[in-house]
Amino acid sequence: MQQVVESVAPTERVAMKKTILMCRPEHFTVSYRINPWMHPEDPTDTSLAVRQWERLYEIYLGLGFDVELIDPIAGLPDMVYAANGGFTLDGIAYGAKFQYDERGPEGPAYMDWFRSHGFRVAEPVSVNEGEGDFLLVGDRILAGTGFRSDAASHDELRKLFGREVVTLTLVDPSFYHLDTAIAVLDTDSRDGQGNIAYLPKAFSPESREIIQTLYPDAVVVNDEDAAVLGLNSFSDGRNVVIAARAVGFEQSLRDRGYTPIGVDLSELLLGGGGVKCCTLELRR
Ligand code: ARG
Repeated sequence: MQQVVESVAPTERVAMKKTILMCRPEHFTVSYRINPWMHPEDPTDTSLAVRQWERLYEIYLGLGFDVELIDPIAGLPDMVYAANGGFTLDGIAYGAKFQYDERGPEGPAYMDWFRSHGFRVAEPVSVNEGEGDFLLVGDRILAGTGFRSDAASHDELRKLFGREVVTLTLVDPSFYHLDTAIAVLDTDSRDGQGNIAYLPKAFSPESREIIQTLYPDAVVVNDEDAAVLGLNSFSDGRNVVIAARAVGFEQSLRDRGYTPIGVDLSELLLGGGGVKCCTLELRR
């Protein structure tokens, strides 16, 4: 008799080569408080921050990414969070305009870098913190507001890139940038839609509904994993670099055929940032 073996074909994840921009945390410290993670009264260890960052840098090189670097500037301790430096797509860099004065000078510094590295720079009119709040998923841009980027910046994005821009409202101060509450798992999946992981409680009820409709298959991450900024991760479609302590998220990724790679950025977490914050994608 013939035996019927039921088999589920594992999803074959395809890695895309990424080009990214990073900034060595040579001047990293916590000297002001602009998010609930930051405690200026607690000590920081800049050399440990650099070592942990270097590990991330090496992981990216190991994955075959092109990693470009911007020179860190003394007096700008948050410059390591390159994701906030702008948003790039189709050779255009939409510059950042920071909510808090402490980070203000980073905007022009990153725009100068874009200009001298093959981008047409669009100067921002509205407050926006770059890829911290804007995530490209498939052909669509998810755009956060509520704490940092102004909703008016979403209109600027629409005009500039001619893509669908979906506004999502963040409501939990610990998850103040969109990239702390949503992880992009694949930008270019076969159906062109891509997929994400997210923390539902970080969003307003209306935004939660939008996310459920757009991504019925999204990975839902639990509070413990989100609390170590597990969602603040970077995926090439197959390999997902995440906070090593986000063990539940790591398992969900494995179950879905991704290869999670854990990294410890405990020192940069003191500034309220993780893997994704240190990574700005360059799309020329
Ligand atoms: N201390 C920085 C701030 O509050 C952290 C930025 C984290 N970056 C990010 N893309 N989420 O602005």
